[in-house]
Amino acid sequence: MTTRFSFQLGATDGKARSGVIDTPRGAIRTPAFMPVGTAATVKAMMPESVAATGADILLGNTYHLMLRPTAERIDRLGGLHRFMNWSKPILTDSGGFQVMSLASLRKLTEEGVTFKSHIDGSKHHLSPERSMEIQRLLGSDIVMCFDECPALPADRDRIAASMRLSMRWAARSREAFGDRPGHALFGIQQGGLERDMREESAEALKAIGFEGYAIGGLAVGEGQEAMFECLDYAPEMLPVDRPRYLMGVGKPDDIVGAVKRGVDMMDCVLPSRSGRTGQVFTRHGVLNIKNARHQDDPRPLDEQCTCPACRNYSRAYLHHVFRSQEIISSMLLTWHNLHYFQELMQGMREAIGGGRFDAWEAEFHAQRAEGDI
Ligand code: GUN
Ligand code: ZN
Repeated sequence: MTTRFSFQLGATDGKARSGVIDTPRGAIRTPAFMPVGTAATVKAMMPESVAATGADILLGNTYHLMLRPTAERIDRLGGLHRFMNWSKPILTDSGGFQVMSLASLRKLTEEGVTFKSHIDGSKHHLSPERSMEIQRLLGSDIVMCFDECPALPADRDRIAASMRLSMRWAARSREAFGDRPGHALFGIQQGGLERDMREESAEALKAIGFEGYAIGGLAVGEGQEAMFECLDYAPEMLPVDRPRYLMGVGKPDDIVGAVKRGVDMMDCVLPSRSGRTGQVFTRHGVLNIKNARHQDDPRPLDEQCTCPACRNYSRAYLHHVFRSQEIISSMLLTWHNLHYFQELMQGMREAIGGGRFDAWEAEFHAQRAEGDI
């Protein structure tokens, strides 16, 4: 393993950027969409199928894996890549955000957070130091700082105090991470929708120094307009020569708007979760396969899609297996949705490379406006 972690910016078009992150486990083409593999699986997908959709990297979760099957067990079994049979890069979230949304009886102090597991009520502890240890045991390629984030709306004082705590935790995360060639530690900018706090947070992170920088604390209930307003300034506060990762985003139009504003990486459960609930993403918008209007329809989900669901099955079949709660329904719809998200990223990478992002974006919105999916 001689390759170190590095980021090469390829082309820029307006604020949109394309490039490549090189890691010892392979290259990540940016803008990148990371499918979510919370519990050491992208639900309903074999890892080789996830790779076939075009994914270069997966996201895993400290919170879920520390509870079950535990980081120590995964370490004994050779690390997360081997455990789940995914040899490309893995980014792991640090746990703090998931504790706040999933765990009960949370107690937050300067030191860290104690909480009860949402699975069995058992008591656990996370801190910057423990989160770094867990992510090291998992063998994560891109490790996220341990942070905290208030749900929006929150008042300024609460946002400031939380952001400053996250910045102190970022310094402790950097210290605990140590020197690990080929692995990267990303800082996470906080500060809600307050521009001055986003600035203070960015300055604090840059002073510590990270291999990449995430924008956290968005897509937590503020709505797209407010999120875009924040993304009009937040990415530029972060170093131009490092990857910028917008956490937990989003719908296709959120992703396009984020890339337009200078974001390089994103993750979201949307394509995989929607695949299990019958929501299908297409170039023309979202359709619900549960709808009775599909029951006699011999056409594929999308005539132009090259995924197995579209090449080999009709809407009528997909409607039938969804209604019958057959497992293949989740498999095929998840595959299609992940394929759609990856094609979206590929389309943007090519458009940015060719200096025609604006035209690409206009076509993206025009196809969705046509309706009649
Ligand atoms: N996922 C979505 N938003 C966030 C955030 O602000 N912090 C972390 N750690 N994960 C997230
Ligand atoms: Zn398809």
